Amino acid sequence: MAIRLGDTAPDFEAASSEGTIKFHEFIGDSWCVLFSHPKDFTPVCTTELGYMAKIKPEFDKRNVKVIGLSVDSADSHKQWSADIAETQGHAPNYPVIADPDRKVADLYDMIHPNALNTLTVRTVFVIGPDKQVKLMLTYPASTGRNFDELLRVIDSLQLTAKHSVATPVNWKDGDDVIIVPTLSDDDAKKKFPNGWKTLKPYLRVVPQPR
Ligand code: BEZ
Repeated sequence: MAIRLGDTAPDFEAASSEGTIKFHEFIGDSWCVLFSHPKDFTPVCTTELGYMAKIKPEFDKRNVKVIGLSVDSADSHKQWSADIAETQGHAPNYPVIADPDRKVADLYDMIHPNALNTLTVRTVFVIGPDKQVKLMLTYPASTGRNFDELLRVIDSLQLTAKHSVATPVNWKDGDDVIIVPTLSDDDAKKKFPNGWKTLKPYLRVVPQPR
């Protein structure tokens, strides 16, 4: 069955470039980014895994674990790592799941046979500490993802989890946010005692809470 936002991310045990992973145990009390790439030793994937390693400290800062996946073996992931370091300046500093039998890929519906027969397409799942799926993305093999966008979304998700706010179009950290429509004005007064700007009764703008 297809995974949807709000579902519990399926648990699994699998080999990885850093040993056996028990997925829910791996996530622990953190957030998690699980991302698949089509194949080791391919060009776009090489740039993606290198860039993810470069910005991993930004995920660490936000208490987010990062984990990759493809339908290659752990040995293949380890061998490829040297090429990634050589060409991108950063070797993967996060585990990459080895899924040659496509157990995890099938569990997460990462193979879209009409797009890419037996390989995983570029999916991303952001999972919360409650193990619920908070975001899903699917990109074709030919388009490298924007991993900076994941940081922006995680900032928004973490803000929503802590405060009763949503983030507007193209929001970035520090910009004004929106009070969620489900919060009444009376309850909003308690949360935002310094007030807010009402553009419409359903569009209430407030400085980003810290
Ligand atoms: C790539 O990473 O460049 C790639 C992988 C599979 C199919 C097409 C491109």
